[in-house]
Amino acid sequence: MQKIKVNLADRGYDIIIGSGILNQLGNFTIEAGLGKSIAVITNDVVAPLYLEAVKTSLRGAGLKVIAIVIPDGEKYKVFETAIDIYSKLLKAGIDRSHSIIALGGGVIGDLAGFVAATYLRGIAFVQVPTTLLAQVDASVGGKVGINLPQGKNMVGAFYQPKFVFIDVDVLSTLRKEVFIEGFSEVIKHGVIRSEKYFSLIENNVKKLLNFDRDLLIETVVGSIRIKADVVSRDERESSLRVILNYGHTIGHAIETLTGYTRFLHGEAVSVGMAAAGKAAVLKGLFSEKDLERQNNLLKSVGLQVNVKNVKEGEIIPLLQVDKKVKDGRVKFVLPERIGKVLVTDDVKIEILKRSLASIIG
Ligand code: NAD
Ligand code: GLY
Repeated sequence: MQKIKVNLADRGYDIIIGSGILNQLGNFTIEAGLGKSIAVITNDVVAPLYLEAVKTSLRGAGLKVIAIVIPDGEKYKVFETAIDIYSKLLKAGIDRSHSIIALGGGVIGDLAGFVAATYLRGIAFVQVPTTLLAQVDASVGGKVGINLPQGKNMVGAFYQPKFVFIDVDVLSTLRKEVFIEGFSEVIKHGVIRSEKYFSLIENNVKKLLNFDRDLLIETVVGSIRIKADVVSRDERESSLRVILNYGHTIGHAIETLTGYTRFLHGEAVSVGMAAAGKAAVLKGLFSEKDLERQNNLLKSVGLQVNVKNVKEGEIIPLLQVDKKVKDGRVKFVLPERIGKVLVTDDVKIEILKRSLASIIG
């Protein structure tokens, strides 16, 4: 079992990572002093797989448990679902001394975290991420939220969990494409912050895709170290944290444009990274060779670097509703080399059009 700390003074917390540790969740919850009653929020795909084990562990530690199971899917990461959950929490008598556990992928983590941040003006919560994407990225850093029809994650908060509990064994039940989409955030972490980490993935693609447990743990730990370091330096994205959005501005636009149905989040981010990489090449910041290296790694894990049946003219207006827009200018994270990026709002429309053209078709 490994422990990584997110250093945020009184909001700091541990991320616990291991294999076959789900049955210890109850003990950690007790140690964290999270109250007598726990509401586990999950969905109807994860519940049949892991809810019983989680309940048994929590009850075994002497806790009272209620479970709230919502339908699966990004389209349920909306206010209507949050309202439904608030009612169920009230009905079950969950008060401020109690806690929420988010058991699921990034959708559940974002939604349950949003509910925790707002219910009774905020109650404690724990992230138990069950997808690779949520383990390496979404569960860490306290961004919680819901989507609006106009765009992804448009309403939310920075609300840190009390701890994050990661058992990599749960990844074994993921659908193949869901496992693979997680690698987009893994590769993102390499491109933005660490060539060494990028090389680790590059040199072990086969083993990782074959579910080599030790390497998976090394991958999850490596990503979390990068993310925890960035978040510890800039919790509220006033500067450095923006780099975690590499590939996301265009990725989110593609998700919105395709109604959250054609692409998983990580799949859209992969295409977004290819477009941002191309924009960096066109601006003379990034070499063609490094762009090829990034795109080859994305492709070798099974991700795509282009998108069909979408027009650049449809993507561009959607970039304007991105949360990173400041005074009408879109902020882009662009790579300078593998392991280093910069943030700029100086991407001329011609460069944007040419980089989008490179990913379409
Ligand atoms: P997801 O939560 O929809 O999970 C993908 C699919 O896998 C779902 O069908 C889910 O039910 C299923 N699943 C989850 N765990 C499983 C398991 N162990 N076995 C079998 N099936 C399982 O999607 P995701 O990719 O995990 O997360 C995407 C979401 O995360 C997006 O909404 C995105 O905006 C958000 N996100 C948030 C942050 C953040 O910092 N808060 C960062 C990245 C992404
Ligand atoms: N996934 C972007 C962030 O956490 O800041």
